[in-house]
Amino acid sequence: MMKIGKIDLAPPFALAPMAGMTDTAFRRLVKRKGGCGLVVTEMVSSEGLVRGIDRTLEYAEYTEEERPISIQIFGGDPVKMAAAAQIVEGMGADIVDVNMGCPVPKIAKHNAGCSLMREPERAATVVRAMARAVGIPVTVKMRAGWDADEINAPDLARRMEDAGASAVAIHGRTAAQSYSGFSDWDLIARVAASVRMPVFGSGDCIEPSQMVDRLRGSDVAGVLVGRGALRNPWIFEQAAALAAGGTPRALSTAERGQFLLDYIDLLVKERVDEADGFRHIAPGQPLDGAAAPPARGRERWVINKLRALNSWYTKGIDNGSHLRVAINSAESIPQLRDIITAFFVETGVPLHS
Ligand SMILES: Cc1cc2nc3c(=O)[nH]c(=O)nc-3n(C[C@H](O)[C@H](O)[C@H](O)COP(=O)(O)O)c2cc1C
Repeated sequence: MMKIGKIDLAPPFALAPMAGMTDTAFRRLVKRKGGCGLVVTEMVSSEGLVRGIDRTLEYAEYTEEERPISIQIFGGDPVKMAAAAQIVEGMGADIVDVNMGCPVPKIAKHNAGCSLMREPERAATVVRAMARAVGIPVTVKMRAGWDADEINAPDLARRMEDAGASAVAIHGRTAAQSYSGFSDWDLIARVAASVRMPVFGSGDCIEPSQMVDRLRGSDVAGVLVGRGALRNPWIFEQAAALAAGGTPRALSTAERGQFLLDYIDLLVKERVDEADGFRHIAPGQPLDGAAAPPARGRERWVINKLRALNSWYTKGIDNGSHLRVAINSAESIPQLRDIITAFFVETGVPLHS
């Protein structure tokens, strides 16, 4: 059984943090399919948390059924990161995770994201300050390094452990690579062999069998799955079945369609139907809602969310490009539902898996 601090992760498969994608609605649906031991929020600005900005609180929103839940924060200022960690703890999160992997210049230029990997002393100061400030485990998500000349994940992981981190996750690409090339699982295995704390590996698991192979093939304690879960939210359930010696359940076309319809329902329930009842979260209270976006933007927001998910989801299905084009032309929520129902439920388009 994998543990982070006192938290059991069963099974040791986790939904990777993905900005714009792993919102509370998506995370809930993934959890309901089973096999996912941990979910992580989208990255949340430490600055925004400390200043109490509405949009930032939205990103940190979660529900009880997602537990155990890790809230990922980004920033490079140790004092603000410690204060943000306390806010995260006050919100009732199980784990606070530090983003040291984001390669986007807007984030990286403020000593945050992957640029923290270039300043190991600062990175250690940030994690030490956070670990002193909170009782929940502090974890770190990093890349292999900044670029091919600065691959320092093994050294940095040790420093993070010394600074009080309870676990690290490694995406085995450099910031310079962004998403090109492949995640270096040999490097990830080296990190896992060189620290006592649990190490999660991340990168390029698209099939459930790859998750099981990665878990068995190295000293990693767990596997994070990002894009593979956007294509196939059942990947955790399927991997858990494989790991237990069983056969992954085949999915029906209707189920694939129903996932999208359920996602729309959750988004609509939160941001359209109940928008007026939304409240801000006082520290110490579990979150079950967040600030509502402006009224006229709500339907558009749901449509944009569906478009974003579909750019990945449709890669996992036959004729996915047709669905992608159709969804991108939808102008209302009823139209979205009709398009999805017609594609999956009525035509019964055959699937790859
Ligand atoms: C759309 C997208 C958004 C991402 N956002 C974040 C993020 O907010 N924080 C983070 O640590 N990693 C982020 N990542 C990186 C993933 O967590 C993961 O490490 C990476 O995609 C490699 O794993 P995969 O091949 O399973 O997707 C993001 C990746 C994608 C594709």
